[in-house]
This record gives sequence, C-alpha cells and structure tokens, in this order.
Amino acid sequence: MPLEPVLVTDSLRQIPHTASSEHLIDRGNERIEEFMLSSEQTIENFVTCDFHLVDLAMTWLHENHLITGNNFCEFGSGYGVVTLLAADRGMRSVGIEIEPTLVERSMALAAELDLDAKFYCGSFIPRDIGDLTELAADIEHVDTHQGDIYKEIGLTMADFDLMFAFPWPGESGFFEAVFDAGAASGALLMTYRGREGVKLVRKT
Ligand SMILES: C[S@@+](CC[C@H](N)C(=O)[O-])C[C@H]1O[C@@H](n2cnc3c(N)ncnc32)[C@H](O)[C@@H]1O
Repeated sequence: MPLEPVLVTDSLRQIPHTASSEHLIDRGNERIEEFMLSSEQTIENFVTCDFHLVDLAMTWLHENHLITGNNFCEFGSGYGVVTLLAADRGMRSVGIEIEPTLVERSMALAAELDLDAKFYCGSFIPRDIGDLTELAADIEHVDTHQGDIYKEIGLTMADFDLMFAFPWPGESGFFEAVFDAGAASGALLMTYRGREGVKLVRKT
C-alpha cells in the first residue's frame, strides 16, 4: 500500500490553542452535551474525538508546512467540530456525515460561529473505488451501503489535501483503504485513535 506514515511530534500538547479554536471547541462541546441530553434518538456510531488534540495536530501540520493544499474533508463529521476547526484556520472545509440530524446540527453550529464550512448528508465512500466488499465485511460502525455525495459537493476525494476521520477501534484499515483508493498523491489522512492519539499517513 503506497501510504507512508508521518511521525507526529509527541509534544503536541505543548502547542498553544488560539482563542478562537478554544471558543469553537467550548461551544461545540456545549451544543453536543445539550443534544445528547435532549435527543430521544441514539446515534449508535456517533462518538466525539479529542477536539483539543486534533486542533493541535492541525496547527502542527500547518506550522511545519506538511499539507500540500487548502482543501479539507472530514469523513463522518458527526457534530462538525473538526470540520469547523479546519475552516477557522482558513481551509476550504467540507464535512460528510450520513446522519441527517447531525448534518443539521453541524450547519447550525457553523451559522452560530459564523464559519464558512460546508456539510453534506451522504457517504464519504466513493462509489467508483473498486471492490471493498471483502474489507467492508468486518466493518460495523461505518455505513457502507449508502451512495456517496461527491457529485453534490462538486469535488472528488482526489481534490482534498487533508482528510480526517475518527474510526472505531479495529476499523482504521478500512479508512486507509478508502483513502488509498481515492486520494491524490501527496494527500494526508489524519485519524484519531483514542489513547494512541493521532496518526498520519501520506499517499505517495
Ligand atoms: C466515531 S464518529 C466521529 C465523529 C466526528 N468525526 C468526531 O471525531 O467527533 C463517526 C461518524 O461517522 C458517521 N458515519 C458512519 N458511516 C458513514 C459514512 N459512510 N459516510 C459518512 N458518515 C458516516 C457516523 O454517523 C458518525 O457520526
């Protein structure tokens, strides 16, 4: 697989947050808590990553000029906080989420924070990337059946320079396979891996 690991510094936590990313994360966490308490519907696959750590990883990527362009995409964007953090730092930012309620909430949060990110309801898995049947067989927390949304976005996976996902344990290989099949050479995939922190691979 032509994916090259990019070693992330182990001193991410020493990087300061901007006031605006702190505000964004606080507001996002408040809204998520309100949503969780008020919602009658449980969205089984929705859990949130460590927004602070992912924000610092994006700062580190920018400071070290490791991203080849300005297009960001979050695969399974949940409540939209990481997509908004990317928009807040000036990236052209897109979140793809399969759950309509979460897409609505993400759009509301973007409006509340006056941030120019776009959210789309559909699947991040491109239709035309070949046979993922075998890989998808063991995947429980990604919807592998719905149609993709790239036509509506007007971009393909190959247009994104940085992609982010929070895979459930044991499912990161699936995200890497999708990324490998659709991303352009030079693009980065960042994944949040719980206690292991963030991992980065570059398509070579
Ligand atoms: C573990 S949550 C992560 C949410 C967010 N990325 C974060 O880090 O806070 C994964 C999200 O992916 C969504 N999802 C699952 N399959 C998807 C698919 N094929 N396309 C888009 N979103 C999907 C789920 O509804 C869920 O909100």
